[in-house]
Amino acid sequence: MMDLLIPDKTHDESRQGEALMLKAEAAKNNGRKLYIESYGCAMNFSDSEIVASILAERGFETTSDYSVADVIFINTCSIRENAEQRVRNRLKEFTVAKVKNPGLVVGVLGCMAERLKSKFLEEEKLVDVVVGPDAYRDLPNLIDQVDDGQKAVNVLLSREETYADISPVRLNSNGINAFVSIMRGCDNMCSFCVVPFTRGRERSRDPLSIVAECRDLFDRGYREVTLLGQNVDSYKYSTTGEEVITTNFANLLEMVALINPDLRVRFSTSHPKDITDDVLYTINKYDNICNYIHLPVQSGNSRILDLMNRTYDREWYINRIDAIRSIIPDCAISTDVITGFCSETDDEHKDTVSMMDYVKYDFAYMFKYSERPGTLAAKRYADDIPEEVKQKRLTEIVAKQQEYSFYRMQARIGRVERVLIEGFSKKSDKDYCGRSDQNAMVIFPVGENYKPGQYVNVLIERSTTATLIGKVVD
Ligand code: 5AD
Ligand code: SF4
Repeated sequence: MMDLLIPDKTHDESRQGEALMLKAEAAKNNGRKLYIESYGCAMNFSDSEIVASILAERGFETTSDYSVADVIFINTCSIRENAEQRVRNRLKEFTVAKVKNPGLVVGVLGCMAERLKSKFLEEEKLVDVVVGPDAYRDLPNLIDQVDDGQKAVNVLLSREETYADISPVRLNSNGINAFVSIMRGCDNMCSFCVVPFTRGRERSRDPLSIVAECRDLFDRGYREVTLLGQNVDSYKYSTTGEEVITTNFANLLEMVALINPDLRVRFSTSHPKDITDDVLYTINKYDNICNYIHLPVQSGNSRILDLMNRTYDREWYINRIDAIRSIIPDCAISTDVITGFCSETDDEHKDTVSMMDYVKYDFAYMFKYSERPGTLAAKRYADDIPEEVKQKRLTEIVAKQQEYSFYRMQARIGRVERVLIEGFSKKSDKDYCGRSDQNAMVIFPVGENYKPGQYVNVLIERSTTATLIGKVVD
């Protein structure tokens, strides 16, 4: 049985390579089975739901067993070299399936498809279809082309596509939390990052379609939505017509929060240069907007931040942290950090460590710098920090983060947390698990008076570095 928890992390290790399942509508069933697995960020997992929805319309049923599939899709990530290597290794495993079933269609979707384009077809003979993140509506045609004996590629990026009208089928869902994509692409051009090249220009989705999707989720029993975008703080949508109304991220958060006080609202990812006090006041105003902000710092040193083209410096980031602390009492903060970026000295690395000491993050995703072809950094700077040094710096900050995660968890002991129950805990069906407002995982004994999808108050009695443990008190 697959783990039904859907944590709202950006790159959740436990979900990498997860396959999606849904039933085709009986009336449309074309007798063909789709197997689709996803890698990378939450946006990719959300996109796979859009893909499955487009193909369900054409009568495809999904399967979690690729050996019985007629179409295998792998939705890929290019963010670091090892993410791409993982996909290539996985493709090798599909070779046997293709030998057994020569009519099998193998497709590569997502960021790696966009980056490598038709080169993919030359490099991986197994692959029949290469489709970028803005071309999923074309999938039925592309499959037809392959059925006719051709290879098929569509990697056109779009300035408009937001798939706003496609209501994604919720796959592997626990029926409680869902991701809702509010924008696509990224215009930031951080020098290390391949995303602007693979996902194209930033565009925001019509707020009314977002609110309608969230309301529909609530009506179907969902109790938590995570609004997704590469940089949610630059969300902006203007209506056309006589009276132009512009919606920014603070407005959108408020619109979604007002759907129902029992619908929790989360969001990811915030950008330090764009997060406004207005957004912070909105988070504080509504109890159902969770007190949790993922605010990637990348580095604590201003020279490195400049080379990274992050467009903020150390002081600016600290100012945003101070603003969060003063406007939203009791807000959890997590981050992303890269070690060993081009020319980073030991002293500059120490600035990242001291930033961690300053913020005492609740959680952090930490990476060694991995040069990506075509990015500004790859063109401009040498990847000159030796692997051992990158690793040593990473090991140091991982250890530091462990301490702070534990510190943050310990600080909750003796407090009562409002928890949305998501299901049984991973380890035992005698315990439920769910998340606190601040996004901490909370484990507590199963009881008769409450069930998944409901809120309970849990008194926290102990903790590990990653989990709070307690008992229900109401
Ligand atoms: N090397 C290492 N980490 C990277 N990230 C993005 N690009 C790279 C890269 N080339 C990290 C950043 C980003 C997160 C999603 O992945 O920290 O915030
Ligand atoms: Fe990449 Fe920077 Fe855009 Fe994030 S904000 S996707 S790190 S370019």
